Amino acid sequence: MTSYQFPDTFRWGAATAAYQIEGAATEDGRKPSVWDTFSATPGRTLNGDTGTIACDHYHRYEADVKLMAELGIRHYRFSVSWCRVIPDGRGAVNDAGIDFYKRLVDCLRDHGITPHATLFHWDSPQALEDRYGSWRSREIAQDFADYCTAVVTRLGDRVTSWMTINEIACFTHMGYAVDHDPPHAPGTRVRRSRDVWQTSHHALLAHGLGCQAIRAASPGPCSIALVDNPAVTVPLTESPADIAAAQRALHTCGANGGILFPALTGAYSPALLEQLGEDAPIVQDGDLETIHQPIDALGLNIYTGTYVRAAENERGYEFLEFSDTYPRLNMPWLWIVPDAIYWGVRHLRETLNRPDLPVFISENGCAAPDRLTPQNEVLDTDRILYLRQYFKSVHRAVDEGYPLHGYFIWSLMDNFEWAWGYDRRFGIIYVDYSTQRRFPKASFHWYAECIRQRRVV
Ligand code: NOJ
Repeated sequence: MTSYQFPDTFRWGAATAAYQIEGAATEDGRKPSVWDTFSATPGRTLNGDTGTIACDHYHRYEADVKLMAELGIRHYRFSVSWCRVIPDGRGAVNDAGIDFYKRLVDCLRDHGITPHATLFHWDSPQALEDRYGSWRSREIAQDFADYCTAVVTRLGDRVTSWMTINEIACFTHMGYAVDHDPPHAPGTRVRRSRDVWQTSHHALLAHGLGCQAIRAASPGPCSIALVDNPAVTVPLTESPADIAAAQRALHTCGANGGILFPALTGAYSPALLEQLGEDAPIVQDGDLETIHQPIDALGLNIYTGTYVRAAENERGYEFLEFSDTYPRLNMPWLWIVPDAIYWGVRHLRETLNRPDLPVFISENGCAAPDRLTPQNEVLDTDRILYLRQYFKSVHRAVDEGYPLHGYFIWSLMDNFEWAWGYDRRFGIIYVDYSTQRRFPKASFHWYAECIRQRRVV
């Protein structure tokens, strides 16, 4: 019998992102991001929801940090809003925007919570969209690096854990896809698949130049990570044949071969390139070196996975479809595949040949149809069921000696779930948006107990 005990050094945390929680969209010099424009356009988000007010965290951060302290987390991942810091995307720095993050970080540190700052979580400045079409242009990579310099120069005395970019595939492939009209995220429908891959290539370049900029600007030693959401292939059985199939399939599952592979190995996956043919992005001399920067850690956002087994076809594997009744939580893509955490981590060693790269789960969690009871409780036993299984998978990876050092739950509180607006609640704290009152859910108390006992309870 295992007690699922974690080492004392394991870091427990929670995650959020600027546009999803801050609100204060026009305050203190902030100018619009593409998400402000997109969500203000009729028909783009569910119920026309926008992040204009969101959780009003901009004004309520002190109370929110108190809740983090009550939860017992010692690590908090948030994102910095580019258009709060450099409202026009490039050029003048807005000190009032920086000051908000100074206040937030100081408050976290006063509560013994280490800040982990993501520099880009999807909210590109609208000004750069107007100037050159955001991620369609290579120019954005240098603008992003300059923005990194601006932030790290000013916050590097109090933040030493940086994450460059969150989930490249989501804000590029979902914003520029050829076959979605309108796209699911801000962007422009492009003509061909190669143009979509070009946007993610530009984001990789931004990550690479961003890493260099952060290192150059940091006043002391710091840790730099990329945050990716790999499409994790999970072997149907753990037979050698199915494991080998899952390893091969990792290359062509989702966008892995064109995002995680170049970032970690310095090359696009040959299997993906073969599949893309003419649709492969244009890669200039030196790009892959820029992209393949040394990083200190990798953040993995893992919510679900894809089952794979060995097959007698040309590729040697097949992806398995989910049946209609396969359990999932409150998003169309949120099939419950706890083993995806373990396999996501294990693939780094065995499939990407990066055995020693420190890794943490930078996001994991689920949406559930939460309701407040008359006693002001949220009894989200479905979320606890989900999390308990995923925590066991985290434990397995740690127990087997993989360098998995921490876990950030998504999310600290309910927030603006992009095109789904406020309809989908991922928090372990319930937010009543009409009053902005916060109500810790049952899962909050459950997670607090896990942290207190350092084991899966
Ligand atoms: C990943 C994204 O980083 C985050 O912004 C989003 O809310 C969650 N997934 C849930 O969909």
